Amino acid sequence: MRNFALATVLASGASALTIPLLSSLTGFQTIPVLSLSQGGKAQCYSGLVAVQVTTTGNTQLNFNLPANQSAVTDIFTQYLTSTSTLVQSLTGPDATVSGTFNIHAKLCFPLLSLPPLVTPPTVQFLIHGIGFDKSYWDFAPGYSQVDAAAAAGYATFTYDRLGVGQSDHPDAIQVVQSPLEVDIAHALIQMLRGGALLGTKFSKVAIGGHSFGSIQSIGIASRYPADIDAVMLTGFGLSASAFGLTFAGFNAALANKNQPARFGALSNGYLVTGSPQSNQLTFFKNPNYDAGLFAQADNNKQTFTFGEFFTLAKVVAPAAAFKGPVDVVIGQNDFIFCQGDCLSPSDQTAPVAGALFPAAGGNSDTFILPGAGHALNVHYGASRVFAHMNNFLKNNGL
Ligand SMILES: *[C@@H]1O[C@H](CO)[C@@H](O)[C@H](O)[C@H]1NC(C)=O
Repeated sequence: MRNFALATVLASGASALTIPLLSSLTGFQTIPVLSLSQGGKAQCYSGLVAVQVTTTGNTQLNFNLPANQSAVTDIFTQYLTSTSTLVQSLTGPDATVSGTFNIHAKLCFPLLSLPPLVTPPTVQFLIHGIGFDKSYWDFAPGYSQVDAAAAAGYATFTYDRLGVGQSDHPDAIQVVQSPLEVDIAHALIQMLRGGALLGTKFSKVAIGGHSFGSIQSIGIASRYPADIDAVMLTGFGLSASAFGLTFAGFNAALANKNQPARFGALSNGYLVTGSPQSNQLTFFKNPNYDAGLFAQADNNKQTFTFGEFFTLAKVVAPAAAFKGPVDVVIGQNDFIFCQGDCLSPSDQTAPVAGALFPAAGGNSDTFILPGAGHALNVHYGASRVFAHMNNFLKNNGL
């Protein structure tokens, strides 16, 4: 159906479409695949983008690939033990990592505003969390910020983080770590601002994260404040008190054994949540979601690495030099950041901007989606989140 709709679009404006398409393939490794978003509001170009990057912020981890699932589970047992010194014992000095990494990215425009004919000035740079890939932002009709943003006049850039989905899967311990991923995001934002993708220059970048993607967003705002004009944190709060329960609930499994058909070639450094029950406990709030979308999330569940696990929050520091507006959005029943109740003891979105963005300006905002769990984009009412985010940007002149 999506292809048919696209064919209709092509037939109705073939010359207008083909000229920019053929003359500005820059940035992608091969001719980008043209598709429509889930709800048909955006037209998207996707493919691999080679990102050359150096980070000095990784951590040398004195940690070897676990031999098998028993060893994986025991690492989490050690991590969760009351007197654990695991993290201190394996954390080495800062490490420099350089390379060219292929990142699978999707750049979407409001339908029929093709580059470079009509370019929205603002691109929403959206970073998914753990357990998902970029499809988190364009999950299903009615559950798509890519659609909602396009309808509101925004371009969107989504990508599979390093080690996820169709992006490269390098060394899961020393390479795929949170700091390197911040530097990859920075490089991608520079490409968007400089017109390196499809010859389209964006003058404004609004970053939006979910969960670990929000942690990444804070890292970018902190280290590269000039990269972004607005920050939208979703599925994020300041409390880490349920992290232990979360990592126990994940019941982490070797990706290559749990999903051999999808991940059989990956090393023992790549993990997935162990079961649909793990996903429900940590990401969903029953019964406030569509069972089909729950199954879709489980069937498409994505990996995380030991390198990420041990460096997740290393990039978090107050973004003292970021002067733009901040939006904080969470599901009322987010388990990971609120242990299931984001109104207890008081609104958990309220202190975030003050703590992490002391110089924020403009019209900062917050929103709690009633009845939603952590993966709020795939819960009932997700469209309220999207409307809120887009209104937040409009209220800030973006
Ligand atoms: C897991 O690997 C360790 C170390 O090689 C080995 O001693 C143990 O027997 C293995 N356990 C299973 C269940 O295969």
